[in-house]
Amino acid sequence: MTLIQDLASRLSSAFETVLGESVAVTVVAAADLRFGDYQSNSAMALAKQRKTNPRALAEQVIAALDLGDLGTADIAGPGFINFKIAPQTFAARAKAQLADPRLGVPVTGEGRTVVVDFSAPNVAKPMHVGHIRSTILGDSLARIARCLGYGVITDNHIGDWGTQFGMITWAWKNCLDAQALEADPLQELLRLYRHASDSAKADETIREACRLELVKLQAGDDENLGIWHRCIELSRIGLDRIYDRLDVAFDHWLGESAYNEALAPLVERLLADGLARESEGAICIFSNGVPEDPAKDPFLIRKDGEWTDFPMMVRKSDGGFNYATTDIATLEFRRNEWKADAAWYVVDHRQSLHFQQLFAVAERIGLGDMDLRHIAFGTILGTDGKPLKTRSGDLPQLADVLDEAVAAAATAVAERSRLDTDEERAELAELIGISAVKFTELAHHRLSDYVFDLDKMLALQGDTAPYLQNSVVRCRSIFRKLDEEIDLAAVTPVLEQEAEIHLARYLARYGEIVPSILEDHRPNLLANYLLELARAYHSFYEACPVLKADTAVRNSRLVLCDLTAKVLVHGLSLLGIRCPERM
Ligand code: ARG
Repeated sequence: MTLIQDLASRLSSAFETVLGESVAVTVVAAADLRFGDYQSNSAMALAKQRKTNPRALAEQVIAALDLGDLGTADIAGPGFINFKIAPQTFAARAKAQLADPRLGVPVTGEGRTVVVDFSAPNVAKPMHVGHIRSTILGDSLARIARCLGYGVITDNHIGDWGTQFGMITWAWKNCLDAQALEADPLQELLRLYRHASDSAKADETIREACRLELVKLQAGDDENLGIWHRCIELSRIGLDRIYDRLDVAFDHWLGESAYNEALAPLVERLLADGLARESEGAICIFSNGVPEDPAKDPFLIRKDGEWTDFPMMVRKSDGGFNYATTDIATLEFRRNEWKADAAWYVVDHRQSLHFQQLFAVAERIGLGDMDLRHIAFGTILGTDGKPLKTRSGDLPQLADVLDEAVAAAATAVAERSRLDTDEERAELAELIGISAVKFTELAHHRLSDYVFDLDKMLALQGDTAPYLQNSVVRCRSIFRKLDEEIDLAAVTPVLEQEAEIHLARYLARYGEIVPSILEDHRPNLLANYLLELARAYHSFYEACPVLKADTAVRNSRLVLCDLTAKVLVHGLSLLGIRCPERM
């Protein structure tokens, strides 16, 4: 049980004693530590409902409250209840946490199956920095959900069946560079795509030729299918290289093409059930009836001061199917085959209307009990404050962004590292560069834009991955200087100095932070917690000598050091970040 859970259950019993019925209460970590460690505004909320005096209610509740030896409670302002935790409680918690392989993180997701749909680049189109956010966020959310006991299924729903294949097939037949393809498949496929797309824009006959290649592919032409297969295979090789570098793995790669067979019968079913209808030759899903609030109806948009239809198209007038059709089929598959209770889509905020429509359709086809979330995110900006671009004005390639970060990390490592060999330094630069990119992503609120500034991301003194990794290395280095074996599990820490208590307070919060991330799918809560923890550690380290202290005090402080290192390593691993042995 976390401290919040323990306090909430005691507080709820006290309210029950006073009010004669059981009520829901909330306890949160205090924003301002001068008032206590935790606080509750439940007396105010409940007094308002009952039209009684909040302060009087809070006083009665405190009189009835049994905190045991957890700590003390008092009242502030109009009826806030503040809790101060006793140092011995933090000490006992630290000891228990060190003995727990989960480091105090509760299991909250047992029995729930969630599909995390993330990354999902489009084959043969560039995997750009927009996909970087999805890949890093999605991977971290999957790790966190897994740690909390959810059954997690990660699925890379790649775009492997789109109009781009008409263009690529045409370019493949006309100007493939086989050597380049061998050396860097993603790059060559991208070149083919760009070449075809530019040529088609400039030349009507090429545009038509591309369209015909697509029609042939969709009709099952052997040669075109063969080219398509090669493209998928080669992209997979190129993508795997990137995912390896990022330490990201998927349970499944069920791209759009996996659902081809399901689309025609799906549309027939939607028609038969009256959920979709014909409109100008296409089949579409419309708003159903008169919405209470048209602004909340994803099938309507406002045009010239009036609400007009904004249907979801599931079959084009030429008989082709849409992105949306595939997403409906995919959702049904995830429910029927994987028995998913939830699906989280980690996708760019620009697709928000698409997902609102998809989730509305899910209700209509009987999947309304699923927990469906569009986990949207903002844009990565360059240091000029505009969306990140290459010098030629293109969207930067993910692999290039990683290379650039690693190159900058190599410079930083050369300046400050104590490592001996070039090989070790190169390995460290790779780890630090990629960790820096990941941490910057995860430390920001996912909906806000952020600036991609390598100097800031790599700073050893800053809100960065290297700062945290270095903190771990420093925590651990104390143990290298120790010349005896100590059984830390047997030590009950004694917390006397303010800096020790403060560190223990943050350590105890770990088990509260991790589940809270999934309330709004915000790994930045964890990233920022880890920074606070590392800062608490550094203040402690400044104020409290460890190895020079008397044996009892030393051992107590060693528990804090060991636990801090473990929580930092565990927390970073949930962000998909590893720690080097040395830096
Ligand atoms: N391939 C899409 C894109 O790059 C993202 C797919 C997201 N997942 C989904 N089930 N729609 O924009």
